[in-house]
Amino acid sequence: MTIARELTLLAALGASLTLLAIPTAQSATPTMKAVVIHEYGGPDVLKYEHLPRPEPQADQVLVRVIAAGVNPVDGMIRSGMFADEKRAFPIILGGDIAGVVEKVGSKVTKFKSGDPVFAYVSLDNSGGYAQYALVTEREAAPKPKSLMYVEAAAVPIVALTAWQALIDTAKLGSGQTVLIHGGSGGVGSFAIQIAKARGAKVIATASSANQDFLKQLGADVAIDYTKEKFEDVAKDVDVVLDSIGRDTLVRSYGVVKKGGIIVSLVASPKQSELEKHGIRGAALSVDPNSEELNEIGKLIDEKKIRVIVSQTFPLPEAMKAQEQVATGHTRGKIVLKIADEPK
Ligand SMILES: NC(=O)c1ccc[n+]([C@@H]2O[C@H](COP(=O)([O-])OP(=O)(O)OC[C@H]3O[C@@H](n4cnc5c(N)ncnc54)[C@H](OP(=O)(O)O)[C@@H]3O)[C@@H](O)[C@H]2O)c1
Repeated sequence: MTIARELTLLAALGASLTLLAIPTAQSATPTMKAVVIHEYGGPDVLKYEHLPRPEPQADQVLVRVIAAGVNPVDGMIRSGMFADEKRAFPIILGGDIAGVVEKVGSKVTKFKSGDPVFAYVSLDNSGGYAQYALVTEREAAPKPKSLMYVEAAAVPIVALTAWQALIDTAKLGSGQTVLIHGGSGGVGSFAIQIAKARGAKVIATASSANQDFLKQLGADVAIDYTKEKFEDVAKDVDVVLDSIGRDTLVRSYGVVKKGGIIVSLVASPKQSELEKHGIRGAALSVDPNSEELNEIGKLIDEKKIRVIVSQTFPLPEAMKAQEQVATGHTRGKIVLKIADEPK
């Protein structure tokens, strides 16, 4: 029977012509498993599917993902909060990866096949909740040697955020005092350690269950926000790192010394309040930065920064991972395990 006659017969029987989409041995493009969204919505829009494996363009690196970090922003993107950025569906979520370079584009000079890397990936190319992801040289750095991949995937976004807030924006110096809200979370746990490595005095807030944890991370003063007002303890600080917003930001203006700065990750500090207190303010949006990722990696390998992964989930359970992160009470980081750790 000819193919044309076979198709006519199938069509007559009402069979779906999508059968034609089944790859033949000659035409098969490599596929991968990924968690994607085809629409914005609640956690149930996350779907575990087969997709074509991406191919790196000249300036891109294809990474075989071993683990992917989960961040609060993943759930925000899923829910449509950034729908005006007009990304095409299906969207693969996930900005943090650790994995092994599979293939590099013709213009890539910093990486080669087989290199262990970690990266903050731009969702404009592809996301991290997948067996393969595309990154650029600007987004990736060599994986810290002392870390497992599952730990390395917990680093990029939150560590870069803490770095860009405290060092690039606030210019935190030795001997200065910083108040870090949410010290037990992803950003906070790195911020405490980066500030200590910088020689600063650290005051950090978290709930009762995380007081010892704040101390273990190096905080000089731990404040239980459920039992005391941080403004009763923290006074005349040089820098506030605000990852909470709302009332926490409002009450933070008064604890900063004149000329000091509040860096918020979740809101724009109010100009009138800044002027009233004679302080500065900044709203930070984290950027990929391979040089800074390298610096952070060195501090990790020198044992100046510990990476805390509180829970891991297999890739098909990305929904559960996002639900945990959405509680706003995660200690350290949540990571998706996508493949076995390479030997
Ligand atoms: N602008 C940017 O570029 C950027 C980058 C990264 C993150 N962010 C944002 O920053 C926020 C934090 O991110 P994350 O990854 O660190 O989140 P996370 O891992 O979920 O950590 C949140 C932490 O906040 C603590 N917390 C909750 N309520 C608090 C309160 N009232 N006072 C003090 N601490 C409180 C929690 O500790 P307890 O469990 O002890 O309450 C938890 O450890 C998120 O909104 C995220 O979207 C923004």
